[in-house]
Formats: sequence, structure tokens, C-alpha cells
Amino acid sequence: MAAKQYIEASPGRATGGTVAVPGDKSISHRSLMFGALADGTTTVKGFLAGEDCLATMAAMQALGVRIDTATDGTVTIAGVGMNGLRQAAHALDMGNSGTGLRLLAGLLAGQSFSSELTGDDSLRSRPMERIAGPLRDMGATVTTTDGRAPLTVGGSTPLKPIEYVSPVASAQVKSAILLAGLYADGTTTVVEPGITRDHTERMLRTFGVPVSSGELTASLTGPATLSACDVQVPGDLSSAAFALGAGCLARSGEVVVVNVGINPTRTGVLDILKLMGADISIREESRLGDEPVATLVARPSALRGADIPAELIPLAIDELPLIFALAACAEGDTVVSGAEELRHKESDRIALMVQGLQALGASVEERSDGARISGGPLHGGTVESADDHRIAMAFCIAAGAASAPVTIRDTENIATSFPGFVPLMQSLGLRLTEFGRD
Ligand code: S3P
Repeated sequence: MAAKQYIEASPGRATGGTVAVPGDKSISHRSLMFGALADGTTTVKGFLAGEDCLATMAAMQALGVRIDTATDGTVTIAGVGMNGLRQAAHALDMGNSGTGLRLLAGLLAGQSFSSELTGDDSLRSRPMERIAGPLRDMGATVTTTDGRAPLTVGGSTPLKPIEYVSPVASAQVKSAILLAGLYADGTTTVVEPGITRDHTERMLRTFGVPVSSGELTASLTGPATLSACDVQVPGDLSSAAFALGAGCLARSGEVVVVNVGINPTRTGVLDILKLMGADISIREESRLGDEPVATLVARPSALRGADIPAELIPLAIDELPLIFALAACAEGDTVVSGAEELRHKESDRIALMVQGLQALGASVEERSDGARISGGPLHGGTVESADDHRIAMAFCIAAGAASAPVTIRDTENIATSFPGFVPLMQSLGLRLTEFGRD
């Protein structure tokens, strides 16, 4: 096995610069799955060639879909139509990706053949009954391993439409059910307890499927057909957030991130940062296909603690590790509550952020659904990221504000969502060095 990677972060704040971050992960996954089901050839520009999306690409190829990547990164998908997928010769390994596994499970629920889905240690520890239950309600055959992956799905068409009132605000659950609903005879509706990202709804419409949606509901009627289209993927706000966080902690200069997706179901992080006193502005708003985009500019900010409103939690769910890190560098206390979902991500993100910030000298009180984080000086030390990409990146940002070097362990999975993170952050002035790379 290759040596574990780690990052040494020396004290030093961002000095500024203009960057573009890699493509949006959620949109990239969906473009592959929808393009595969479409009639005709779909092209995807700005695709995120990170490990999570590459696992989805390999899975779609194993299901008989021809997908090519040109030297400029443009991905071409030869759609096979709603009934053109073929049984894979092996289990589909979705790596570290919950989005890949859960959405694909929904899509495969409607196939006449059965599929096995699995992933790495982290993915195999995450809850899967949240999708298996409603898919079974639709008539799919789904088995899990004590509620987790490996799971098997499909092989018992046709599906029945359902109205599913979800106990959890999760775009992955919503999307899995809607994708199965494409194969059901009638209208499938998902009702959620909180607003979640709506990329599935938007992109399905672009592929020609009428989807009706309100703030907390989404419905579509099957059986449906998808028509190929050209997808342009904006930069991922979840990745841009790390650069913006570094820009807020800077003493001078501006961090400018161009071409970032600002879908309103994703911008909770900007609202939270604003509450914390961040100086971030939105410029050059435009559209890229079905998604709004903009240039985001972060300037040196006097960050202060805040009580994070519960309704912003699902809108910033992936950025909360960064918010924890910035809260530890802010003046005063920040309270995060209603965020128990963080314990079911690539790692238990509450536990890891609390432990890591405490290891750097921060005063943090762990709660079952969040934490109270008191801002104050951070010292150097070693923190665990447990192979969780967003934990590793969040500590890289906090480390810039620490008084001595910080070692961040097990950082290889940064490549799942943000290939090129270290050189990009170096270009903004952060003093990061990677070790253990092959
Ligand atoms: C995603 C949904 C969210 C998010 C994940 C991507 C998606 O997960 O955390 O990174 O693309 O649908 P949940 O649905 O579990 O909240």
C-alpha cells in the first residue's frame, strides 16, 4: 500500500490572488447518470475529474455506457436510453462517494437486472436504509448489509410511484427516489423537512423531464424519457468556500474565485459567513445552463462568532467543517446545532472537527447535534482527518492562522472532490507542503 499522505501547514495567511476551482461534484455526478439514460449524445464541459465522479464514470461504463474524455476535459456520453443499461460483470465500487452510490441505487432500482453497490470503508459505514426503505416501498428489491453497503438493488420491475415524506433533509435521498420514479408508472413525490440542493430537479428539466417542485417538494411522472443535451458545470461552491475562508482570514489582498455556482440551495455558507462578519461580495452574476454562477471575492474580515440558524444547516451542510475552523479563528462563540447529519458524512465530522480544534488549543464543547466553538489563538499540533477530504481542507485553512506548524494526517482523499487543492492554495499564499504522495 502507498504511504499515507499528510500535509504540513506552516503559519501564514493568504496573500490574495484569482483562481478557478474544479467543477461542481453534485452536478458532475448527475451529468454522467442522466447522460447515460438519455437518448443521444451528451457533452459535459467543466466536469470534475475527482475520484468520486470518476467512480461514477467507471460504474456507468461497467453498466454498458460508452463515455469518453477529450484532452480538454470535455466528457462525451453516448446515451443508451432508459432501458439500455446492461448488468455489470462485477460489483460497482463507488469508492468514497455517498452521492454516487445513493443516486445510482435509485436509478438501478428500475432495471430488470440486479446490481451490487459497494465502496470504501467510510462509504460502507454510512446509512443506506434511508434510500433502501423508500425504494422498497416503490416495489424494488433492495438488500443491505445491516443497513449499510454492500447493497443489492433492482431486478423486480415495474416500480410503483410513491409520495415519500422524508424524515431527513437529504438531496441524495430525494434524488434516489426521483430517479427510481423515472421508471414508475405515475407521479412520484418527495416531501422534505428542510430545503436541499435541487440540481437533480434542474438538470432533469434540461434533459426534457417535467419536474414540478416547491421549496420542500419535488415530483415527476414516469415512465419518462431523457433527451441528450450539453451540460456546463460551474465551479464547486463547496470547494470555493475554502479559498474564500482563507481570504477572510487574510491580513491583506483579495481572494477572487471566478465561475462559481451560486445555486440558492447551496449558498448557506455565504449567509453564515456574512453573519460571522465576512467581507465577501458577489460579482458578475450570470448563468451557466440551468445553474446561476458568479465571481466571489473575499477580503480580510474581522470574523466574529454567531448562532447559526437551523434553517441554514442543510444549505451549508458540506461547508460546516470550514465554518467550525473559521469559528475557532473568530472573536467570540459560535453555536452550531441541528447538524446531527454531520455525523453520517464521510466521517463523523462533528467529532473530528471538535477533536482537531481542541488539539490546536481551541475551546470547543461537543454536542450531539453540533458544537459551541470559542474563538481564540490556535497553536501548532497534529490533527486527524480520518481520510475525510473536507476535514483535511478545513484544517489547512485554520492552520494558516495558527502560531506554529500543523500536521494534517491522511489527506489523500482531498482528491475525491478538489484535485489540485494544495497548489491552488499555495498560489493564494498558504504555506502547505504535501508528503507521502506517490
Ligand atoms: C449531495 C447531497 C448532500 C451532500 C453531498 C452531495 C448531492 O448529501 O452532503 O456532498 O449531490 O446530492 P446528503 O443528501 O446526505 O445531505
